[in-house]
Amino acid sequence: MKISVIGSGYVGLVTGACLAEIGHDVICTDNDKSKIDTLEAGGVPIYEPGLDNVIAKARKEKRISFSANPADTIDKCEAIFICVGTPPLPSGDADLSAIDHVARVIATEAKSPKLVVEKSTVPARTGQELKRALSVYSRKTGVTFRVASNPEFLREGTAVGDFLHPDRVVVGVEDETAEKQLREIYGPVLDRKFKCPIHSAGACPDGAAPAWVVTTINSAELIKHASNSFLAMKISYANMVADLAERLGGDIGEIVRAMGLDPRIGSSFLSAGLGFGGFCFPKDLQAFVRLAERSGVDFSMLKEAEKINKRRIDRAFDKLREALWVVRGKRVGVLGLAFKPNTDDIRFAPAVDLVNVLLGEGMIVRAYDPEAMDRARAVLPQIEYAKSPYDAAENAEALIIATEWDEFRKLDWDRVRDAMARPFLLDGRNLFSPREMKSRGFEYRSFGRTE
Ligand code: UDX
Repeated sequence: MKISVIGSGYVGLVTGACLAEIGHDVICTDNDKSKIDTLEAGGVPIYEPGLDNVIAKARKEKRISFSANPADTIDKCEAIFICVGTPPLPSGDADLSAIDHVARVIATEAKSPKLVVEKSTVPARTGQELKRALSVYSRKTGVTFRVASNPEFLREGTAVGDFLHPDRVVVGVEDETAEKQLREIYGPVLDRKFKCPIHSAGACPDGAAPAWVVTTINSAELIKHASNSFLAMKISYANMVADLAERLGGDIGEIVRAMGLDPRIGSSFLSAGLGFGGFCFPKDLQAFVRLAERSGVDFSMLKEAEKINKRRIDRAFDKLREALWVVRGKRVGVLGLAFKPNTDDIRFAPAVDLVNVLLGEGMIVRAYDPEAMDRARAVLPQIEYAKSPYDAAENAEALIIATEWDEFRKLDWDRVRDAMARPFLLDGRNLFSPREMKSRGFEYRSFGRTE
């Protein structure tokens, strides 16, 4: 099918590239000309493992093209995926102005009926507004549109695999035709009939085939917000249990391992530490709280999850102050700036919040991240950037692990210890066992363990 993807950010690019990979003809568009220039020149404007190869292959096979003018692409396609940003407004509500703008462009440019798929994360009832906007702005042409919601669950860092091997594909539709069209688009993924570009033969996840979940548009929109908010709540819950375990002499690792064996609970998203960040969880949680408020529902447990998460940074700093006593003027190394490993994304990263607290307390910060330092320089120009983890540790009175990059697990920790002025290690992601690090000669602190 011929598909236009409007918005070439994380979601748009991965969606466009993967739709091309499974056989569709895709045009990826963005108003930001520099992004399109990068793509046309053979580059990829974001770091996402495997995405460059998928785009390169699709380009070679002429199944993907790029355009800085979304309007030009509308009438060349049968389906249009809206993947524009919905950033938070100061109130916490999602800013839907980009969606509104795209609706006008689609409505005025289309000369024949289109399937318009909302993939950006949006509050419930956006689909209804989108439908209304499309019909208002197309009144001169009389073209009709089908609107559908198809929330995206991909995670940064594993986005290509998540798109091609999802647990479920959720489609919110109003009629069977829209469902059929989306079934056709996702057919190869649902039937697992594509040659996987990221796994070698036989190495693809071998669980059940993805569930095809057909709902109303309102439900589909709610599914996305409800899923992300639930996962965020799970993390905050684990963090509170960690605080309690620390006081009472338990070990959060042992506790969540046993909890997770109960299939009703599940083992993922129970890792305690510095808390969650990224462009999805914090903003989706806020937007869901606001949506509930405006609908007269007091979803206070979500507000609590948000507060708990914000307090993680203070908890980390308390541990540091307790160990160092006076912090002003002291040198601290920070390992990891990205909001999680395998991405260069630092949006709402706990590491960035923590660095700001350290700076506010007068500390000298030297940070290292395998991928995120270029982006970090723009928002944290006042810190030093290290050439390696060892360089970040050099002469530091404390070293903080803020992101669980695999690279940090494999460091020569004796070398790190010897480089430091004082071997105090604050493990914000519980990567190591207290016993191991203490036997190496570190003063070691983490979260939710007796040390
Ligand atoms: C998330 C959702 O997982 C995805 O389905 C949705 O489409 C977009 O939002 P992403 O933002 O890429 O994806 O990050 P994710 O891997 O979910 O992690 C979010 C944050 O939670 C990270 O900062 C991570 O470090 C933190 N986290 C995760 C924890 O602190 N503890 C955990 O147990 C799990």
